[in-house]
Amino acid sequence: MTTERLPRNRTYLMCPPKHFTVEYAINPWMDTTVPVDAVLALKQWEILRDTLGDLGHRVHVLDAVPGLPDMVYAANGAFSIDGMVYGARFRYPERGAEADAHREFYAGQGWRFAGPQHVNEGEGDFAYLPAAYGGMVLAGYGFRTDPAAHAEAQEVLGRPVVSLRLVDPAFYHLDTALAALDDRNVTYYPGAFSAASQRVLAQLFPDAVIADRADAEAFGLNLVSDGRHVILNTEATAMGDKVRAAGYLPVHVDLSELKRGGGSVKCAVAELRA
Ligand code: ARG
Repeated sequence: MTTERLPRNRTYLMCPPKHFTVEYAINPWMDTTVPVDAVLALKQWEILRDTLGDLGHRVHVLDAVPGLPDMVYAANGAFSIDGMVYGARFRYPERGAEADAHREFYAGQGWRFAGPQHVNEGEGDFAYLPAAYGGMVLAGYGFRTDPAAHAEAQEVLGRPVVSLRLVDPAFYHLDTALAALDDRNVTYYPGAFSAASQRVLAQLFPDAVIADRADAEAFGLNLVSDGRHVILNTEATAMGDKVRAAGYLPVHVDLSELKRGGGSVKCAVAELRA
């Protein structure tokens, strides 16, 4: 018997790939010699936005800023829980100004906002499970986010933050290796984590959907779930089968162009948790 998976209405923030290019390489997926198809990137992004809207979710759109080619990866701009926003501070200067654009968005919406002292890349390295152990944050480090930011996030957000060490450069953000499927369960690729962090995950999430390296390489873990519908890219067919077997409903969207920058569905979508 599989549990009935119920969706919860969400509010998201996205930023169109209007100025999207791959002009620098800060992760192993980025190849500056292969041109991006800007028209296709925008079309694919619009389909993702409309898919979330059609599922009943609210999508806010942040204006793209010229000169910030990675701004389409809106997940990196901040991390919010219960109306409190922990702002981002990017590892690489090329993306630094994106944090300001996100801060202005939250300020304009009247959110409580904490500016970070430590390097962290927002939901790229933070995930929230509101019903796991009373509300728990999972946080990645090893490539981008400074582990000191995990303690800072815990102080700002008042939720236990569990630090997980990422060890494979191909999976440089937590959201390339792990995703929340609903309020209490996750899916992850164990090989992206240190042996000790794998043990922590196995202890905390005995019912996790376990993905393999091929799933992770297809960016199948870079998904957005509303608790029932799991939005993931078209390449990740095997991952779609795994979440279906666990009772969720996979919804595939083509995001081939965003993969050139080293991201997919989740990278393009920040959740606003009021
Ligand atoms: N090119 C971007 C970078 O390397 C991709 C960010 C992907 N975002 C994410 N949430 N994983 O920073």
